[in-house]
Amino acid sequence: MKLLLNKVAIVTGAAHPMGMGFAAGLKLAQAGAKVILTDLGRNEQELETLEQRVSEISELGGNAIAMAVDITERSQIDACVEKVIERYGQIDILFNNAGSPAGCGEFLNMTDQQWDISYQVNVKGTADFCQAVIPVMIENGNGSIINNSSLSGLAAIENMAAYTATKFAVVGLTKALACEFGKNNIRVNSVCPGNIWTQMGQIEAELLQKDGQSIADVKKGMSAKVPLGRCGVSEDVANAVVYLASDMASYVSGVAMPVSGGMAPGL
Ligand SMILES: NC(=O)c1ccc[n+]([C@@H]2O[C@H](COP(=O)([O-])OP(=O)(O)OC[C@H]3O[C@@H](n4cnc5c(N)ncnc54)[C@H](O)[C@@H]3O)[C@@H](O)[C@H]2O)c1
Repeated sequence: MKLLLNKVAIVTGAAHPMGMGFAAGLKLAQAGAKVILTDLGRNEQELETLEQRVSEISELGGNAIAMAVDITERSQIDACVEKVIERYGQIDILFNNAGSPAGCGEFLNMTDQQWDISYQVNVKGTADFCQAVIPVMIENGNGSIINNSSLSGLAAIENMAAYTATKFAVVGLTKALACEFGKNNIRVNSVCPGNIWTQMGQIEAELLQKDGQSIADVKKGMSAKVPLGRCGVSEDVANAVVYLASDMASYVSGVAMPVSGGMAPGL
């Protein structure tokens, strides 16, 4: 019996082939859910990239559709929720995965724009999507929301002030909503990935790059700090998302779950 049969799941920020959004979308679909993959979709190329991810899921036998949603535009979130309800009549799972690395960099050089993008995407966009789906989940009598924070939502490393501040906020938002909507049988959790080798992971690696060092060397250094001895891949996080989405986690709510190969907050 598939874990998520007859469930409907929305995933944000799911266009990149190496990203956690796509990996989670694929695993949710393989677990039986009908999946709505969303991402920015500001032009033909972005839309095509998102459609490609949907085709890949379909080719593997999963049920998925694409929708362009910029999570900083509340009207686009509301339109997405409305279309999903029209088509499926329910929303059981939301994986708020979209995030921006704009807030990485030296604090003294951090611009208003970096702060604004970090807040708008990582905090407000995540909160807005929760606010849009929770009434549907209340009506359905159940729901599972998973917000993608970061190990940077539990502890800090240098040169990531705005990113870290907003990822702490994601953990706080998660706990607040878990308290407020537990009575409605809605579970709200966050995943806190460590060093995950995605496009964004590589941007973070570039920040750690010292003069003359290759990215492969940085990756080796990052891997050495992980007790399990490797950087993670998106599938590692996707497995945690499927668990939290499913009834296997029926008594788990309000947690901030590190998915970090044993790397502890603060390392
Ligand atoms: N890679 C890491 O090491 C790492 C570690 C901890 C947490 N994270 C978090 O994991 C999540 C996924 O990141 P990833 O590493 O898979 O990278 P990714 O670049 O594949 O995923 C981020 C996605 O968010 C989308 N996005 C950005 N702004 C958006 C907006 N306004 N509306 C809709 N979508 C938007 C991007 O287009 C992109 O597809 C992010 O929230 C990130 O902060 C990443």
